[in-house]
Amino acid sequence: MLKIVVCVSGGGTNLQAIIDGVREGSVTGIEIVRLISNNKKAYALERAAQAGIDSICVSPRDYTDRAQFNEAFVREVDAVTPDLIVLAGFLVVIPPELIRKYENRIINIHPSLIPSFCGTGYYGLKVHEAALKRGVKVTGATVHFVDEGTDTGPIIMQKAVNVMPGDTPEILQRRVMEEAEWIILPKSLNLIAQGKVKVSDGQVEIAE
Ligand code: GRF
Repeated sequence: MLKIVVCVSGGGTNLQAIIDGVREGSVTGIEIVRLISNNKKAYALERAAQAGIDSICVSPRDYTDRAQFNEAFVREVDAVTPDLIVLAGFLVVIPPELIRKYENRIINIHPSLIPSFCGTGYYGLKVHEAALKRGVKVTGATVHFVDEGTDTGPIIMQKAVNVMPGDTPEILQRRVMEEAEWIILPKSLNLIAQGKVKVSDGQVEIAE
């Protein structure tokens, strides 16, 4: 059983996709052992409570400097000895020491087809605003391992979504969530839990 910590900052719909998948049996071999949010008001905390999942809030705002936050964050992750850390809309920079400690054991869901519309400043609706501004006809979502960069780690899975005439950033965000994020994140977790995901020379290989 793969023990996972999920880190969130907002609504938690990707967290909910994992919770629902485990409950329905479409996601197997994983257990969410802890939810960590930097935002005390995140609705993801309510979703965790309803699912009986332990959750805590750890925010840079609660510490005098970033080094103290980093230390506390690593401590709270280590406390539940996870096999995998899942960033599901987590808007805080991950401590470099955590990335080193959990090399290729931290994954992130990003709402674009990396390398498009990613990196510093591309999060939430901003990603979809940029896609619409550029006029792309196809966008989507990406699940990738987290390395020291921003959205630069090895790509595990991607799924394309059509941009439709008249799309607003909000409409496009919802379609990318429904048609891509909520599908590829649980799917990626299944593959990792089955030991089918390997990284070699910065490329992800998925065993059949
Ligand atoms: C999603 O769009 C995800 O791709 C991005 O942040 C958003 C989180 O949404 N990383 P939710 O909190 O899972 O609803």
